[in-house]
Amino acid sequence: MKLDVVLGLQWGDEGKGKIVDFLAERYPAVARFQGGPNAGHSIRFGETSFVLHSVPSGVFRKGAINIIGNGVVLDPTIFRQECEAIEALGVPVRERVKIARRAHLIIPTHKLLDAADEAALGKAKIGSTLKGIGPAYSDKTGRNGLRMGDLCEAGFQEKYETLRRKHAARLAQYQFEYPFDLAEAEAQWMKDAEYLKTFDIIDAEYETNALLDAGKAILAEGAQGSMLDVDFGSYPFVTSSSTACAGACTGLGVAPSRIGKVYGVFKAYCTRVGSGPFPTELFDETGERLRQRGHEFGATTGRPRRTGWLDIPALKYAVMISGVTELIMMKADVLDGFDTVKVCCDYRIGGVTTDRVPYDVYAEVEPVYREFPGWKGDLGSCRTEAELPDEFRAYIRFIEEATGVPVRILSLGPDREQTIIRG
Ligand code: IMO
Ligand code: MG
Repeated sequence: MKLDVVLGLQWGDEGKGKIVDFLAERYPAVARFQGGPNAGHSIRFGETSFVLHSVPSGVFRKGAINIIGNGVVLDPTIFRQECEAIEALGVPVRERVKIARRAHLIIPTHKLLDAADEAALGKAKIGSTLKGIGPAYSDKTGRNGLRMGDLCEAGFQEKYETLRRKHAARLAQYQFEYPFDLAEAEAQWMKDAEYLKTFDIIDAEYETNALLDAGKAILAEGAQGSMLDVDFGSYPFVTSSSTACAGACTGLGVAPSRIGKVYGVFKAYCTRVGSGPFPTELFDETGERLRQRGHEFGATTGRPRRTGWLDIPALKYAVMISGVTELIMMKADVLDGFDTVKVCCDYRIGGVTTDRVPYDVYAEVEPVYREFPGWKGDLGSCRTEAELPDEFRAYIRFIEEATGVPVRILSLGPDREQTIIRG
């Protein structure tokens, strides 16, 4: 059996949560492989909607094991709040969620360092979610990190204190106002770490491979998006993990040869939250219309998202980096009623037309657009392919031709029912 992967192809917030929840029905296991509580994966069923930050989006499906992989960074306080809220819905979260012994922990001083780094950058700030992600991954690759496994061992307090002292020395170099009470947050963290220890802590690399050997497919759930990948995104305006397909291998201990389908999730337009280049960004009424109709406000931070037209060069780049085999198009219903819909097909940079994503994040990029006629009617009420307006079908066909990848699933609203599987 194979490890199928769901990835965001843009700047995050593509709708990965809804899709993983939708697909999870067919998978015995779902696994998060990178990122941490910077993610906000929204799922709606009937009247209930829920935002997940660290727990995989298969948690609401009966029978599925949900693994938090070694590539994830976990904040015990956020994890506990999330699990208690899931449990309040009657979901047996403790039976369904298992955590990799090799996953790294976010401690309160990571969050302070995140805030201090951002304050020091001033106008050049990344626009981080302030969840401590960058500092936690820095400690991981810098070989200072604390892991889930450490939590369960006798020398944990000492390791914690050593790391905390290193952080305190760095924090002393900054002049900035602490965004929360550290002593209080640390006391809470210690309690929440005890709660975390009551979960099944596993050698996830053995469990994932054993599942595959036993003929059970796993769905890997990406967080963030390809353009936020630490290597291939718009560095330094990125997150600190590998959001591309390769991250699923290192974040779960599964070999590349075991990867099956690679589902690339993208919105029919683009959004970005935080700083960094966004070639098709709209600063006008159209951008506002996308924001309002698409409810484009951050699920983790509440920040209004920047909005713009679909960016084909970026989409092709993401498809290339991750070897995407099927596309999943989200939220085309937000474009209902537009007279024309634009798509950026190339960039003009310094008088040269190109479809390559530039290395230079400060390059002046002018999008070269192609216009498509809009469609009439309400996509959100379509349940079959046959009901889709011709203009919308032409829009899909163009994207398939440009990327060379079929659009296999259309999501036309937040509900599970508003999903069409094609061909
Ligand atoms: P999901 O999984 C959208 C952005 C932040 C910031 C940059 C770095 O819901 O798609 P970080 O806190 O990771 O150091 O912030 O990355 N960012 C996201 N944007 N969706 C996300 O996750 C994001 N996670 C981080 O806004 O620009
Ligand atoms: Mg999000």
